[in-house]
Amino acid sequence: MKKILEDIKILDFTHVWFGPYTTMMLAELGAEVIKVEPPWGTIGRMGPGELKNGVSTTFYALNLNKKDISMDLKNPEVKEMIRELVKQSDIVIQNFAPGTMERLGFGYDVLKEWNPKIIYAALSGFGQSGPYSKNAAYASIAEAMSGHTYATGKNYNYDGPPISMAGAMGDLGPAMYAAFSIVAAIRYRDLTGEGQMVDVSQFDTMTAFNCTASVAYDLFKESPIDRRHNNPRPPRVGGMLEVADGWIYLMTERPRATEALKAELGVDELTRELVMDKIGEMTRMEAHEYLAGMGFPVGPVYEAYEAMEDPHSKARGMWVEVDHPVVGKYKVPNFPVVFSKTPGEVTSAAPMLGQHTREVLAEKLGKTEEELTALEKAGAIVQWKG
Ligand SMILES: CC(C)(COP(=O)(O)OP(=O)(O)OC[C@H]1O[C@@H](n2cnc3c(N)ncnc32)[C@H](O)[C@@H]1OP(=O)(O)O)[C@@H](O)C(=O)NCCC(=O)NCCS
Repeated sequence: MKKILEDIKILDFTHVWFGPYTTMMLAELGAEVIKVEPPWGTIGRMGPGELKNGVSTTFYALNLNKKDISMDLKNPEVKEMIRELVKQSDIVIQNFAPGTMERLGFGYDVLKEWNPKIIYAALSGFGQSGPYSKNAAYASIAEAMSGHTYATGKNYNYDGPPISMAGAMGDLGPAMYAAFSIVAAIRYRDLTGEGQMVDVSQFDTMTAFNCTASVAYDLFKESPIDRRHNNPRPPRVGGMLEVADGWIYLMTERPRATEALKAELGVDELTRELVMDKIGEMTRMEAHEYLAGMGFPVGPVYEAYEAMEDPHSKARGMWVEVDHPVVGKYKVPNFPVVFSKTPGEVTSAAPMLGQHTREVLAEKLGKTEEELTALEKAGAIVQWKG
C-alpha cells in the first residue's frame, strides 16, 4: 500500500470551499475523487477569489488531485449513470443546501438501497435536522453564529464591532471534521460491512471549536471576553511586539526561557520595556533567532506568501508545483502531515470543467464513443475539449 486511502472511491458532488476542501484532503491521501459538476460548472468556479482565465483562484486551490465529470443531474440517462457510479463508490459526499440531493433523487434513503455499504456525507450549514436545517449558509454565517466573529472583534477592541475571521475558517474547520469523520466511518464499514450517513454542520463544528470558552462560560456564568475586560491583568511581557521591519509574536510562558533572558539582561524581573530595548532595533528574523535560541516560543508575523518563502517550510517539503492545462504552473501546499509509511501527495492541478467526463464514463460504465457523443449532443454531459 503506497497511499493510505488508495482503495477508496469518492463520488464528489461538492461545491465552493467546505466540501471541496474535505475531498481534496482525502484525495491527497490517495482516494480516487470524481468531482461531478453541472454543465455550467459549480458556483465555486466563479468565486470567491480572483478570476484567472475565467476560474477563481479558490477553485484552483481546493480541487487538486481530482477528476472532473460534467453532467446534468436532472437528465434521466445521467441519473441512471449516477446510480451505477454510486454502486462502485465507497463514499458519496455533497454540500448542497439540505433537500437539494433529495429533490435530485439522490438522498441517503435512495443511495443506501443501491449500495448498502455507502458512506454518505451530507455537509451543510446547519445539519439535516433542526429548525434551521433548510437554511443556506456560508463560512461567514457559521463563524458569526458560533461566536467567533464576536470574539475576533472584541479581542481586538472590546468597544468596537465584531470582525469577520480571516481565511474562511468556517469552511476549513468544518471540512477537517468532515474528512476525519469520513475516515472514521470507513473504519466502521471495514469492521462491520455497514455504511452510514455522516451529517456535518458548519454551525455545530464551529461551535465545537468553542470548547474552552463554553466551559469557562458555564463554570463562571459570565462570558470569558467580559471577564477578561472587567478584570484586566497586568500588562504582558510578550504578545505582539513591533520590531524594525514588522511584528513578532512572543510567548513568555516558558520559565527556562524567561530565566535565560533575565540572566542575559542582568535583571530580576522581565518587563516589556526591557525586552523591547533589547529587540526593538532587530529585524523580525533577528529577533526570532535570538529569542527562539533562548527557548521562547516565538515567531515572525508573516503574511501568507511569506510563509511560503520561509526556509523551514521549504525544508519540510511544504510547497509543490502543479501544472494546469490552461493557467500553467502554480504553487500549492503539500499534504502537511508526514506519514512514515504512506505519505500524502499532491499529484495534479484542479481540473477543467468536464476534463475527464468521457474517460471516467468509458472506464467505469463501459460507455462507447458513440454513446458518449450522443449524450454530449443531448446536453446531458460536457467534455472539456482542450
Ligand atoms: C452554498 C449554497 C448557499 C449554494 O446555494 P445554491 O447555489 O442554491 O445551491 P443548492 O445547493 O441549493 O442547489 C444547487 C442547484 O443546482 C442544481 N444542481 C447542482 N448540480 C447540478 C447538476 N450537476 N446538474 C443539474 N443541476 C444541478 C441543484 O439541483 C439545485 O437546483 P434546484 O434548487 O433546482 O434543485 C448552498 O449549497 C448551501 O447552503 N450549502 C450548504 C452550506 C455550504 O456548504 N455552504 C458553502 C460553504 S463554502
